[in-house]
Amino acid sequence: MIRPLIVGFGGTTRPGSSGERLVRAALAACEAGGAETRLFGGDFLAELPHYAPERPERSPRQTEFVEAVRHCDGIVIGTPAYHAGISGLVKNALDLLEDLHGDARVYFDDRPVGLIVSAAGWQGAGVTLSALRDMVHAMRGWPTPIGVTVNTLAGPVFAENGSVSDAQLTATIAAQADQIMRFARAFKARHDMKGAA
Ligand SMILES: Cc1cc2nc3c(=O)[nH]c(=O)nc-3n(C[C@H](O)[C@H](O)[C@H](O)COP(=O)(O)O)c2cc1C
Repeated sequence: MIRPLIVGFGGTTRPGSSGERLVRAALAACEAGGAETRLFGGDFLAELPHYAPERPERSPRQTEFVEAVRHCDGIVIGTPAYHAGISGLVKNALDLLEDLHGDARVYFDDRPVGLIVSAAGWQGAGVTLSALRDMVHAMRGWPTPIGVTVNTLAGPVFAENGSVSDAQLTATIAAQADQIMRFARAFKARHDMKGAA
């Protein structure tokens, strides 16, 4: 059985970040489907220096993040809606992935990308999901048809331990994870075959 590596990143530095909880839930759903996973949460992303195109040197954390995405088979990105767009923290991580522009699988090429947005309103959630989808397209990624949006003002969706308690949200995350896994397995098989040839 093919065991894809799914890398998730996102959330904020806020304790109890809803975005990070959602990425964690998405990765757990991928694990339930047979994936190996790796999470880069808000605190990790905050340790990444500001991306600067003229500076090729990389911190150990920058290298760790870039290498994880380079070798993964699928990706989950979680962002808050900040002023109707993705947060600077998440954008900085995406910009660092410019390091993948010379790869055989350039940027997110051949990888499914599950997108998750948490916002304090449906309008912010929708426009941010749409903007993030455009960014992933620009980076040659394959956003899953199912995007996950959460309006944190619409009612509680988390249990006290931080797990997702809302049944509909759980089902949406599971459906997205299923799309990630089916795509990741198919493309990993193709990628591994090319490597073996
Ligand atoms: C600086 C800032 C800007 C925000 N802008 C928006 C916005 O434009 N639309 C919206 O719906 N929510 C907005 N929010 C609310 C956050 O998107 C929302 O609280 C989100 O769930 C926070 O994510 P977190 O729980 O992972 O920290 C903003 C919050 C902050 C701090």
